[in-house]
Amino acid sequence: MLSVEYLSKSFGGVAAIRDVTLEFPTGSLTAVIGPNGAGKTTFFNLISGAIVPDDGRVLLDGTDLVGMSHTEIVHRGVARAFQVASIFPTLTVAETLDAAVQAHRGHAGVLGRRFPLAECQERSREVMDMLGLADEADTLSANLSHGDQKLLDIALALILQPRVLLLDEPTAGMGPEERWQMIDKVYRLWEREKMTVIFIEHDMDIVFKIAGSIRVLCYGRVLAEGTAEQIRGNPDVIAAYLGTETRGH
Ligand SMILES: Nc1ncnc2c1ncn2[C@@H]1O[C@H](COP(=O)(O)OP(=O)(O)OP(=O)(O)O)[C@@H](O)[C@H]1O
Ligand SMILES: [Mg+2]
Repeated sequence: MLSVEYLSKSFGGVAAIRDVTLEFPTGSLTAVIGPNGAGKTTFFNLISGAIVPDDGRVLLDGTDLVGMSHTEIVHRGVARAFQVASIFPTLTVAETLDAAVQAHRGHAGVLGRRFPLAECQERSREVMDMLGLADEADTLSANLSHGDQKLLDIALALILQPRVLLLDEPTAGMGPEERWQMIDKVYRLWEREKMTVIFIEHDMDIVFKIAGSIRVLCYGRVLAEGTAEQIRGNPDVIAAYLGTETRGH
């Protein structure tokens, strides 16, 4: 299980995450929602080790990850994809993934050892198949559609063979149809791979349709947590969203 306890992080005067305690059971699919600036991306940054909390713990099966390097956290099984996809524009999809497998295995193995390309390609292929990216294997990353760039970013996270996969707005910037295609892929991935998936999502139709459980952040605090049914009817959540609507977001 992944859990955070009393997690806090401020940036100057802004308390981005305040005293957050949450649990994510192993193998669960959970949505993290909340208005813009609620602290959702910061929450992922704290779990993945991209930033260090001012206070609190991040526990993966009882081990505190706080203070570990990002690389160590990856090797313990936490990987993420980003709100804005991080791609290498001059490499093809296959080249990108092969390089990622090489880098990952190189780290895990004996220092300086290079893994045979065929072995790396096998894993790349597997990940491309998982996400339906195989047709784009030889496409330059820069030439991919926005949706496929997001998929490539998720593929890069999957190369790391995570037990916990963090997806920051996998459907950001997509039209309605493309959104459902993306989330369908995420859902099937979760079903098949049996990993813990936590995703940040603004589209409530998607959240209520696929997330087994939901955590709501607002101004850095946990506003609510529960099932889709519980969150949908929660007056605090409704007020938080109506509140942001009237502020024009
Ligand atoms: N590196 C940083 N330096 C300074 N302030 C930051 C930094 N990262 C986040 N913040 C601030 O922390 C708060 C939470 O930001 P965060 O990006 O975590 O929100 P979010 O819920 O992901 O928002 P969105 O839905 O717009 O992506 C915001 O007020 C933001 O300006
Ligand atoms: Mg964000």
